Amino acid sequence: MSRRDRSFLSEVVFAKSDYGSIVQTNYPGAHDQDYRARVKSLISESEQAWPQLPAYHYTEEEHATWELVSEVLIRLQNRYSCKAYLDGRDALNLPTSRIPQLDEVSATMEETTGFMLAPVGGLLDKAEFLPMLSQRVMRCTPYLRHPSYPFFTPEPDILHELRGHAPMFMHQPFVDLSVGIGEAAAAAVEAGNDDLLDTIGLFYWYTVEYGLIKEDGEIKVFGAGSNGGIQDLLRAMDPTVEKRPFSLDAIRSLSIDYDAPQELFFVAESYEQVTEIAEQLMKLA
Ligand SMILES: [Fe+2]
Repeated sequence: MSRRDRSFLSEVVFAKSDYGSIVQTNYPGAHDQDYRARVKSLISESEQAWPQLPAYHYTEEEHATWELVSEVLIRLQNRYSCKAYLDGRDALNLPTSRIPQLDEVSATMEETTGFMLAPVGGLLDKAEFLPMLSQRVMRCTPYLRHPSYPFFTPEPDILHELRGHAPMFMHQPFVDLSVGIGEAAAAAVEAGNDDLLDTIGLFYWYTVEYGLIKEDGEIKVFGAGSNGGIQDLLRAMDPTVEKRPFSLDAIRSLSIDYDAPQELFFVAESYEQVTEIAEQLMKLA
């Protein structure tokens, strides 16, 4: 499969602000002017090359943060992550000692399942982000979390994107699920159905981002938020952190706090249950 044509991306939203998305936060990165300037420069570089992917030049310190987090995550994932994630991780085979280029990772994904990466300048609104999944596009931040606290980031960063999300896009059933979520979200936006879009956003958060799944009688990590973050993964497996069985009714009235570590996780019975609920949402759209 050859590389995909990226020209249709020239019309899509790139960023909400020139510094990531979450400016009011206790996270140390928000108060470090040098860090903010670095994030801004990687975002500007991405925007100038848009819709192509630039060759990013990461610093030694950034590569070191990537390596530290990657080594710890891989050990935790070996024990706690679901099979689909581990298979995708092995197939994608990201380097541990350096931050890979988005372009090289996208090339592997495009060749395997047709999903592609496109940079983004921070968290977008769900009405902008989710419908793009229907076009098999994963928006992806190019910058790294703050080096003083590599264990957690309230911002999406390249570790979250590539260690959390990207391996799942090597897995065809997950690609089909993502395309379905994207189509349902696009239909909800088109119809101006904000309630349905909210429900789809919550479904995405409590499955694709923070979902747990039963596998051979054990609870395993499925979501990218947990697979792509040390603190998130440990919380997901911490027996003192609340877990509930997944259902649409259980998540419908909840809200999302992007800034705080996850207080509550939902456990899906199986991959089929997640897919069936996604199909129900598609029928509502
Ligand atoms: Fe994410």
